[in-house]
Amino acid sequence: MAGTTNQQGAFRLEGLTKTFYPILPWHRSRAVDAVQGVDLVVPRGCVFSLLGPNGAGKTTIIKIIAGLILPTTGRVTFYGKDGDKLRSRPRLGAVLEGSRNLYWRLSPMENLYYFGELKGLSLAQIKRESEELLEMFDLTHKARASTQTLSRGMQQKVAVAVALLGKPDILLLDEPTLGLDVESSRLIQQRLRELVERDDRTIILTTHQMELAARVADRIGILSEGKLIAEDSLSNLVAFFRQQDYELELPRLEWEQLRADVSAFRFTEGQSAANEEMRVTFHLDNREGYYALSELLLARRPEFTTIRQVTPSLEDIFLQITQHYSDGEDGGGA
Ligand SMILES: Nc1ncnc2c1ncn2[C@@H]1O[C@H](COP(=O)(O)OP(=O)(O)OP(=O)(O)O)[C@@H](O)[C@H]1O
Ligand SMILES: [Mg+2]
Repeated sequence: MAGTTNQQGAFRLEGLTKTFYPILPWHRSRAVDAVQGVDLVVPRGCVFSLLGPNGAGKTTIIKIIAGLILPTTGRVTFYGKDGDKLRSRPRLGAVLEGSRNLYWRLSPMENLYYFGELKGLSLAQIKRESEELLEMFDLTHKARASTQTLSRGMQQKVAVAVALLGKPDILLLDEPTLGLDVESSRLIQQRLRELVERDDRTIILTTHQMELAARVADRIGILSEGKLIAEDSLSNLVAFFRQQDYELELPRLEWEQLRADVSAFRFTEGQSAANEEMRVTFHLDNREGYYALSELLLARRPEFTTIRQVTPSLEDIFLQITQHYSDGEDGGGA
C-alpha cells in the first residue's frame, strides 16, 4: 500500500445529493434519492475504492465527478477549485460501467488515435502514448484488429488504456475488472498501483470484487442507499474489526455446556474444517467485551483446542458494516 498519500485532497465532495425525478410531473412521488448528503475528501496519490450493494449510488457518484450529470445539491471541488468551472477541472479519464467506451469497428490503435485527438493531444504524443499503453496492457498483437473481434477482457483493457491517454490526474473506473480473467484482472491491478505509486495519480474505482479492492485500494468508502456509511484506510478498517472477532474451537460437548453462559455475547457457530469440533466466533463490541469474555472463560475453563483473533477479510467487514447499517435503519424506522 502506498503509505505516502498526499494529504491535499485530489477532490472533495461536499453535501452531494442526487435525486432522479421521473419525466412526468405527476409521477414525482416516485423520485429516487440516489445520493444523500455525501461528504468525502479523496487524497491525491491513492486508490479509493467505492463499495456498496447494487443501487447504492456508486455509478451516480462517478458520473457526477466526471461531470456527466449534475448533482441536485452539493458540489465537487478539485484541488480546492470549483468543479463547475470547466477551466478548473483537472484532466480526468473515465471508464464507465455498462456503456460503450469504445468504437467497436475501429481497432484499438484507431480508438487511441481518435480519443487522443478528441482530448486535444498532439499527434506525436498520441503515437508515443498509444504504443506505451498497448504495450502496458499486453495488447500490441491486437493493435490493428477490429475492437469488436477482441475478447471482452481485451476490450476492457483497451477502454482503460484510452482513459489513460493524456495522463489524466484523476482516473474514474466503474467496475473495471468485471468479467476479466484472473490474469487480466491482475495486470490491470498492477498497472493501477504503478500509476498511483510512480506517477502520483488518483484513482477512484467501484467494484463488487472484494479481493480487488483489498489488493489495490488504499482507502475504502462504503455506500448504502446513497449514504456514505464508512470511510477509512483499508488497514484501519481491518485493525478495527480485528480487535473484535475471536474464534474458539472446542469439542461439541464442551460447547453445549458453555453455550447458555455466553448468551449475552454475539457469536456465530460453525464446524471447524479439520475435525468434528465446533468453531465459535465471538463478535465483541469493544475491549470491555473482551475482558468479560476472558473472565467467563477463566471461570468456566472449557477444554478448547484453539483460540485466536480473527483477521477479517474485506468481505466480512463489508457485510458487517452494511448489515449493521440496515439493521439500525430498520430498528430506528417507523
Ligand atoms: N438515470 C436515472 N434515472 C432514474 N434513476 C436512476 C438513474 N440512474 C440511477 N438511478 C437510480 O439511482 C440509484 C443508484 O443507482 P447507481 O447506478 O448509482 O447504483 P450503483 O451503486 O452503481 O449500483 P450497481 O452496483 O448495481 O452498479 C438506483 O436506485 C437507480 O435505480
Ligand atoms: Mg453501478
